[in-house]
Amino acid sequence: MHFESDRITRLILAASKKAHRETGASPDSRIVKIVEWPVTCTVGPGLEGAIACESKVGYVNGAQGGLSYRGYDIFDLCAHSNYEEVCFLLLIGNLPSKAELRGFSDKLRDYLHIPDVLRQLAGFPIERMNPMAALRLGTNLMRHEQTDLDFLRGKADEAKIGTDEDSIPMETLPRGEEHAIYEFRRRQPIRDRNLAACCRLISGVASMAAAIARMREGHLPLAPDPELSYAGNVLYMTSGERPSAEETRIMDVALILHADHGMNASTFAALVVASTLADVYSSVSAGIGALTGPLHGGANEQVMHMLRGIGSVANVKPWVKATLAEKKRVMGFGHRVYKVYDPRARVLAPLAALSGRGKVANKGLFQIAAALETEIASRLGKKGIFPNVDFYSGLVYTGLGISERMFTPMFAVSRVAGWTARILEYLKNNRIFRPRVMYSGAVDRHYVPIAARRPARRKKR
Ligand SMILES: CC(C)(COP(=O)(O)OP(=O)(O)OC[C@H]1O[C@@H](n2cnc3c(N)ncnc32)[C@H](O)[C@@H]1OP(=O)(O)O)[C@@H](O)C(=O)NCCC(=O)NCCS
Repeated sequence: MHFESDRITRLILAASKKAHRETGASPDSRIVKIVEWPVTCTVGPGLEGAIACESKVGYVNGAQGGLSYRGYDIFDLCAHSNYEEVCFLLLIGNLPSKAELRGFSDKLRDYLHIPDVLRQLAGFPIERMNPMAALRLGTNLMRHEQTDLDFLRGKADEAKIGTDEDSIPMETLPRGEEHAIYEFRRRQPIRDRNLAACCRLISGVASMAAAIARMREGHLPLAPDPELSYAGNVLYMTSGERPSAEETRIMDVALILHADHGMNASTFAALVVASTLADVYSSVSAGIGALTGPLHGGANEQVMHMLRGIGSVANVKPWVKATLAEKKRVMGFGHRVYKVYDPRARVLAPLAALSGRGKVANKGLFQIAAALETEIASRLGKKGIFPNVDFYSGLVYTGLGISERMFTPMFAVSRVAGWTARILEYLKNNRIFRPRVMYSGAVDRHYVPIAARRPARRKKR
């Protein structure tokens, strides 16, 4: 890429330097382990500590504040790469050649065109729907519209697939109803069909999110602009205005930063559905469902409410004092995995300052955020509580003209890359997810006919 001289690259490299100085955030090569199943691990509620699977897609180093995709440091990717290249990296496993990147970017741009899906989506009361529910609906409409296209594409590529038994995936269609034997079909197109669906989803979810943003405000969806990049089109199709080079670059970096993050709830949800051999569309739809919740994808919206509620820099100290005295959580701080500064927040902080300059919607909010960060770090830093990805992302999105209700859908747009990359990887050695449950209910109860039943007594609390 040719970003070396621009201001944003310098900001990212400065953030990277700071991270390495403060937490030594380089990924530790000793972390790489070959998993020998079965593994022994201590599991807490919510499967905390459980190892769901082995993965080569990405690594989160919570103790040192490190994040890497396929072994490449997130700061380097933000500084030197773009979202299309990162998608290729996540899905395929290595950085593309020039020709590969051109072909892949063209394909993603092509797949941004989903007029039939958008026409169907427009038949629903989108303006009254939760935008994440609308996105899930759109993903299911995509499934309906596009599985045939994936299949045709898979067929076209069939001839290119080798007949080496090792390259044939396990997950083929069951043959014969009696024994449901899984057939090893030569030149099986499923993997390519899935890859085509992954690319369609990476683009389609972006087009749908942009269309939903517009429909919520009474506008018609826009077709993508063939001259713009993926990030440029996300902004253009949302606002109807051609973004500047700087805005495009900021969006690009935000997309890269949100693309993948270990075995988080939405990734796990997507994998669980994929492990049943349901299609990729249904799996991504499950990921979107999981991301909808405020404990996962919705915190950045709440950060914006919080900053507006604080109102001024002078109010920060008394607000923090009162909030912590009431034992309330400060939105956008703390993380289950990072116990040091989240590397994504390190990059987003300067971008929030940059994208918000001169924007009415951001007026004064960055200064409040910066003062809040200082105050929380001095009070809670010793507990390992620092800004997380959601603290500054809302300010970045607002600076780019994205409305608050669309923050979580924009997060989903980026995360489709991680979900699909991990689905493709998992399906190579698929095993349906089936954890156990500890039964703690009643046993040996005798069935009582309805006429003889008494109302159950409720336990006093
Ligand atoms: C993300 C989060 C759920 C992680 O929680 P966790 O790893 O389970 O941490 P715990 O709930 O065990 O908290 C550990 C301690 O830090 C405190 N803490 C954690 N996050 C805090 C926050 N945002 N504000 C104030 N205190 C916080 C807890 O009160 C607890 O204190 P204690 O030990 O005195 O009881 C939590 O930090 C949080 O609720 N953050 C705010 C919401 C948010 O920003 N979510 C987006 C995450 S990307």
